[in-house]
Amino acid sequence: MIELVALTKRYGARTAIDQLTFTVRPGRVTGFLGPNGAGKSTTMRLMLGLDHPTAGSVRIDGRRYDELRDPLHTVGALLEAKGVHGGRTAYHHLLCLAQSNGIPERRVWEVLELVGLAEVAHRRPRGFSLGMSQRLGIATALLGDPGVLLFDEPVNGLDPEGIHWIRQLMRRLGAEGRTVFVSSHLMSEMALTADHLIVIGRGQLLADMSVKDFIARHSASFARVRTPDHEPEQREKLTALLTEAGAQVEQEKDGALKVVGAELPQISDLAHGAGIRLWELSPHQASLEEAYLRLTQGAVDYRSTTDPRAGAGQQFAPPPMPPGAGQPYAAPQQWQAGPPPVGQQPPPPAPLPGAAQGAPP
Ligand SMILES: Nc1ncnc2c1ncn2[C@@H]1O[C@H](COP(=O)(O)OP(=O)(O)O)[C@@H](O)[C@H]1O
Ligand SMILES: [Mg+2]
Repeated sequence: MIELVALTKRYGARTAIDQLTFTVRPGRVTGFLGPNGAGKSTTMRLMLGLDHPTAGSVRIDGRRYDELRDPLHTVGALLEAKGVHGGRTAYHHLLCLAQSNGIPERRVWEVLELVGLAEVAHRRPRGFSLGMSQRLGIATALLGDPGVLLFDEPVNGLDPEGIHWIRQLMRRLGAEGRTVFVSSHLMSEMALTADHLIVIGRGQLLADMSVKDFIARHSASFARVRTPDHEPEQREKLTALLTEAGAQVEQEKDGALKVVGAELPQISDLAHGAGIRLWELSPHQASLEEAYLRLTQGAVDYRSTTDPRAGAGQQFAPPPMPPGAGQPYAAPQQWQAGPPPVGQQPPPPAPLPGAAQGAPP
């Protein structure tokens, strides 16, 4: 188990991570998700005692890393695959580590077999492909048979076979009852690998929930509606009617309307009643990737604006959430602070941030 309490790291004036509080539990894969620069690697370095927190604390199985009696047996990590000494053979690299930590040679061969490197054990990692280096990094992490495993962006640069292999391995390690904490900047990757998600943006916690809940909460459906392109007044009329009926309407780049909060038959009836012709009326599901981008984009917007009330508040709308999908959820403070930006709209689902509301692209 890994426990963070108000963990904060500043580099000069820059806050890399900001009061992160969450717990990574055993017996499942926890995905650590956030855009590049969000603070994932910094958090992992702090977990491993490779860097000191500015404030707050992080404990592995109840202790700081430097207090662990048998660190290699407690926690294994893959931070950077190229971190391995290039001149020693894969076997020797592992053997040196094993010998200095009281681990038998037998275990070296076990992990080499496990990651599929037994045949190249006597080759030097210098000549390894990225995929092979990742495997060696994983063998190193597993050497002490630890109960806690950290992997920082392990699938970066791997081919589909390697990605599949790592995914299976993570799931197996989680199923064995270990604490598996794996970072990625890709939602699609985490949706396939993780059971639980911790999402951060600009060093702040944005979500801490199961993948299942994340999907239920964020894969909101919407309709795409297109009126004849050469008759913009039809589009405006329909927008007004739908808004009046309580839907949120946004114009997409191609002129179509994206409608949240109205069923297809209702849209059709409204249009028909007003004599508006439709060129398109189709159901859509917002992808998880979109939900994730909206979630993390909110954090970026927040941080790049000094005063959220200085006329820019409309950028801070949360992603749409289907009613009744409420689970413990740490939204950035600006989402909780004030009323929704456009006062006349009913609460859930909340308005989509987008061009129509003046959000940046
Ligand atoms: N050693 C460091 N010195 C100064 N700034 C750093 C250092 N390490 C990370 N940062 C900054 O902290 C932020 C978070 O970086 P990082 O943890 O690498 O993010 P991620 O792994 O999510 O891409 C970035 O803005 C980065 O520039
Ligand atoms: Mg990183």
